[in-house]
Amino acid sequence: MFFDRPEKGLKTLLLIVRIGNSAYHEHDVEELRELADSAGLSVEFTESVARHAAHPATCIGRGKLQDLADTIRSRNLDLLLLDHELTATQQRNLEVELNVRVLTRTELILHIFEARARTYEGKLQVELAMLSHAQSHLVRGWTHLDRQRGGVNLRGVGEKQLAIDKYLLQQRISTTRSRLEKVQRRRTQQRRKRMRSRIPTVALVGYTNTGKSTLFNALTRSMVYADDRLFATLDPTVRQLDLAGRYQVLLADTVGFIKDLPMDLVAAFKATLEEATNADLLVHVMDASAANLDEVQSSVEKVLAEIGAESIPKIAVYNKTDLTNECTGIRQGAAYVSAKHSDGLDELQEHVLRKLQGLPRKYCIELEPTEGKIRSMLYQMHAVEAESYSEDGRALLTVNLAREQVQELESRHGFCLHAPQSQSTI
Ligand code: GTP
Repeated sequence: MFFDRPEKGLKTLLLIVRIGNSAYHEHDVEELRELADSAGLSVEFTESVARHAAHPATCIGRGKLQDLADTIRSRNLDLLLLDHELTATQQRNLEVELNVRVLTRTELILHIFEARARTYEGKLQVELAMLSHAQSHLVRGWTHLDRQRGGVNLRGVGEKQLAIDKYLLQQRISTTRSRLEKVQRRRTQQRRKRMRSRIPTVALVGYTNTGKSTLFNALTRSMVYADDRLFATLDPTVRQLDLAGRYQVLLADTVGFIKDLPMDLVAAFKATLEEATNADLLVHVMDASAANLDEVQSSVEKVLAEIGAESIPKIAVYNKTDLTNECTGIRQGAAYVSAKHSDGLDELQEHVLRKLQGLPRKYCIELEPTEGKIRSMLYQMHAVEAESYSEDGRALLTVNLAREQVQELESRHGFCLHAPQSQSTI
């Protein structure tokens, strides 16, 4: 597309760059190694460099550059992968000096997203992210030609070319954006339709590679791509499922989270999480065997807050218990499962079912003018979402009530509520 995807199997030198007092974490390095592996690269060697400030021409400075050149030559490596952003000039200088291809973490993630996007919307989102990445690098990339600026009122070659490239890129960005808006409008309509059908949506969310797609597959027995590679899912997938064999829900698989997501990709990533922001219940899937579980958990919470999903009820699921030798089942409100071995899934389904049953549900109620007591009770419960009146003076209320509140109204006040149609199977 805008920059060639690196070939699979390229022998890669991984370079960890620390500028100023940014900390070094082994699991960050491990994550980048896994990302490289996801893209089919073969990491042969890892180096690190610490500097007070990035060197303007090469980011890493002369001494390190020489070391890298020696390592690359002696080990016959094909590619340098950095965990640090580069200006276009730095990137080009490194490529010239080292005579190998240079790739940043952002570009690597873009390539992975590009390869994994399956729906039209996903592909458009990645294209947009790639275009804006190219745009920012294009601007900086051509500044070295400014020196070719001609005399008074004459624009130099570099400047002219830059203007043309900028214009062409801008055109493509606008076209892609309007295509994307069209697709998103259609998707919103589909979602509205689903909301009208009142089938609750349960979304699987969580850090990348925790086993969401495997769990989704195990629960729906549908074939969603699951692989030991990061970002195996880029587009949300929704399936209708009979939870515990008796309660219909829509189960949505979502894209995996990753901390420090490149800026260019944040919008694309968040758009794919829309399914989560509209869900009735989130199932937060975690890898029970992960070393940095707490850190991963808090970065997921942070993203959920950013997309406005922090108040949606959640269930914690610890997956991969086969790797930690823990028992499956429900403990302290959390579910322990092994999606790979389909262990603990019945308990998980019952757990989700109980949680859904306990959640407030929407009811439409008509009250006679004589039923003012019920009406004020509903207000005291903070259950009323909307109210209007019919011509004959009856109050028409839309209310959200939890199961216990319904029971209280029915048993203590003899008021009978009918469950919404599609949920009457509980
Ligand atoms: P993204 O799409 O990147 O967000 O990944 P994901 O969270 O959907 O993970 P996915 O289902 O693709 O699983 C990632 C890897 O973990 C695969 O190799 C799975 O086989 C493996 N995996 C999933 N569940 C389990 C499990 O219960 N036990 C073990 N040992 N491995 C598992």
